Order: sequence, then structure tokens, then C-alpha cells
Amino acid sequence: MKQIIVAGTGYVGLATGVSFATIGFKVTCVDIDESKINLLQKGICPIYEPGLQEALLESIMQERIEFTTNINQAYRKADVIFIAVGTPELPDGTANLTYLKEVAKDIAINASKDLVVVIKSTVPVGTNEVVKQILKEFAHPQLKIDVVSNPEFLREGSALHDIFHGDRIVIGADHPQSASYVSELYKSFNLPIFVTSVRSAEMIKYASNAFLATKISFINEISSICEAVGADVEQVAHGMGLDRRIGSQFLNAGIGFGGSCFPKDTSALVKSSALEGLELKLLKSVIDINDYQQLKLYELAKLYFGSLKDKQIAILGASFKPNTNDIRHAPSIALIKEFLKAGAIITVYDPIALPEVNREFGDSVKYSNDLYEAISNQDAALIVTEWNEIVQAELSQFETRMKQPLIFDGRNCFNLEEVQNTNIQYYSIGRKP
Ligand code: UGA
Repeated sequence: MKQIIVAGTGYVGLATGVSFATIGFKVTCVDIDESKINLLQKGICPIYEPGLQEALLESIMQERIEFTTNINQAYRKADVIFIAVGTPELPDGTANLTYLKEVAKDIAINASKDLVVVIKSTVPVGTNEVVKQILKEFAHPQLKIDVVSNPEFLREGSALHDIFHGDRIVIGADHPQSASYVSELYKSFNLPIFVTSVRSAEMIKYASNAFLATKISFINEISSICEAVGADVEQVAHGMGLDRRIGSQFLNAGIGFGGSCFPKDTSALVKSSALEGLELKLLKSVIDINDYQQLKLYELAKLYFGSLKDKQIAILGASFKPNTNDIRHAPSIALIKEFLKAGAIITVYDPIALPEVNREFGDSVKYSNDLYEAISNQDAALIVTEWNEIVQAELSQFETRMKQPLIFDGRNCFNLEEVQNTNIQYYSIGRKP
């Protein structure tokens, strides 16, 4: 049986390792973070991701997955190594490839047989070649180590579902044998496999995320026109989506995209293109629109109140989207910062991400685990993340608990007709007040 090693037990690495174990492979996940590996060895999933905890325990029980910090030993026995370490954004917007390069060097130094290195991390075009160079420089010259690009398209919050039901698997390889080798690993996933060159595969990942981000900024821009001319953006998006060339997905207007992918990847693409002497004007606008959109509820509240000093504001939802505790680049963070600067008193509610918000804001905001408690005696409630708990909230609770029932809804959670039957003053995105 092939020995699959996954380097990096972050979001993508863990989901990849567990999914290969689930379909029957023997997988070893390695990481230099001892505390993370300790947790995983005990069967505790360090990230919140629906279904992952159960699948992890199942794979451990079946003895199909193991976790170690002993990278030397793991790389020595490897037939195939998936690299899924982070490529965080540097202050200048480009991707930080330090971790990736370190892993490549460790692999080269420890490899004891021919192997295929598969890069899952999102990396700028040309990075696979950099990895190839490192392997060539440090590995035993008689070893054949090929590098294959295999970008990941899973979403946080539905990672396992996306791995098993994704639209495609992209494999970028410069040698047909390596492409077949990796295709074979994915055979039981029963998904369409697209084989292309390494550079095209690397670009497919960036272009896909940039396109999805563009769809979001596009509909958000349309939502502003809808507000101005009295159209309803949800109706407009629905009508547009009926055209199969446009498609109905990713046309939800709101307060913009966040998370660890779209903001980082759009910015990296703009920066790396600039290094090639190209200005990506469309993508720059996509980012500008998103920056504006993330603060839209702040602008609305400022317009409503004039001064926000000492106004009590409930921020409902902190994670960048539901079903995750990830607050990276979340609109909640940008909003809280602006409201605090304006002297408002903030209470944050989120079903699971409060510890993360606490790490960012400490005692400068109040926290509540209870939605209705969070809106009690507040001047305004801002809906930032469309958690089920929020979408299903009783409107009467806003009427009775708030100082004045006032909602700025950044995710269009409530039906307009329902709200009209209440005393709530309600502002949403791209729909009439
Ligand atoms: C995104 C992509 O969807 C994945 O295909 C990709 O693999 C991943 O990035 C990555 O590069 O690793 P993710 O960031 O987990 O996945 O989350 P999405 O569900 O795509 O949502 C991103 C943001 O867009 C969220 O803040 C969400 O609220 C916002 N969004 C999404 C909208 O504002 N409107 C929409 O219609 C859809």
C-alpha cells in the first residue's frame, strides 16, 4: 500500500489526510506544531469543521491515520507527500513561501526512495519550479522526485462535503507518469479529473478564487444601484442566475467576502501581476468594492445616528461565514474597529468564534453567548454573519429587548414582508428599507 504523507495539519492538510484515510489509504500527517499533533493523536480535532471530528476518530480507530512531529522518519518512508502548509499574506500582499520551502528542503534531505511531491497549498505561478529546484539541490542525485500541482477547492465549513462532492480535481504535471500516479490516488473519489500543465494548474486556483470574488463584488455593486433606484437585489440575482451562462451561485449580496482565501488570493494575484508589469484593473476594483462593502453597516449606522459615541451596538456573528470559527479578514473585525474608533460600545455575539474575537479585541468589547441577551438594551443590532441561530431568530425578541428595535442586516437574513409586520426599523443590502 502506498504511504501517503501530508505535511501541514491546518485546514486543508487535515481535511485531505482524513479524506484519504476515509477511502482506505494509510496516511501519516506531520506538523512541527507539537501541541496540535498532541491533540490530533488523542483524536481531538483542533479546528471546527462539520463532520471532521467524527471522520478523524473513525480513521484513528481503523488505524488508517497517524500524526507525528517526526518529519524525518515520515519523509523517509513516503511514496507520495502532499504539501498543505500555509502560504500567509506578507505585508506587501504577496504569498509567504517560507514554510513551503522549509518542507521541500526537509523532504529532499530525508527522502530515501523515488517519490511524488504534490503541492496543495495555494502558491503563485512558478512555485512548483522553485520546489523542484530545492529538491534537486538537496536530495540524493539518484532519487527521482517529481512535483505535481494539485490545488484545493474546498470551502471552510463544508470541507469534507466538498472533497467528496467537488466539481473537479485539477492535476498539474509536467510528466504523464506523475499525472497518472496522482490521478490513480483520486480514483475512488469518482470526480472529474482535469490534467494540465503545472503552471496552468497553479493559475486555475488563483483565477477561480478571483472569479468567485468578482461575482461577489459585482453583485454587491449592483446592490448599491438597486438601493438607489428601488430594485431588489435578491430578485435581480435570481433573475440573472436563471441564465445558465451566469449561474445562480455566489450572487448573494452582503457585506463582502472575508476568510483566509479570497482576500489573500486576490491581493496576491494583483501583486504578482504587478511584478510581471501587469495591472489587474478589474481585480483591483473587486478588492476596493469589498473594502467599501465590509464597512457598509458602519456607514449606515453613522448616517442614522450622526454621532456613534456611547451608542450600544450588538454585532451579531463574528466569523467570516457560518459554520466556522475563522475570523480572518471577517467583516466583523473591520466593523468593530471602526465602531470602537467612533466611541461606540460593542457587544459581540457568535455561537463559536468568541474566543477568537477575544484574542483580537480583549476587554475593549463585551461578549455574549446568547443572541437575545446580546441584543438586550442595545441601540442597534448589526447582522454580520448569517448563522442559523440568527436567521431563525424571533423578530419579536428584537422588538421587546432593544432600546429601540433597529437592525442593520448585512446578510439579508429576514424576509422583508415579515419585518414590515413589526415595529423594527430594518436596513438590509440592496433591498428597500
Ligand atoms: C473559498 C472558495 O469558495 C473555495 O473554493 C476555495 O477552495 C477556498 O476559498 C480556498 O481558496 O481555500 P472559503 O473562503 O472557505 O472558500 O469560503 P466561501 O464559502 O467561498 O466564502 C468566502 C466569502 O465570500 C465569505 O465571506 C462569504 O460570506 C462571501 N460570500 C460568498 C458572499 O458574500 N456572497 C456569496 O454569494 C458567496
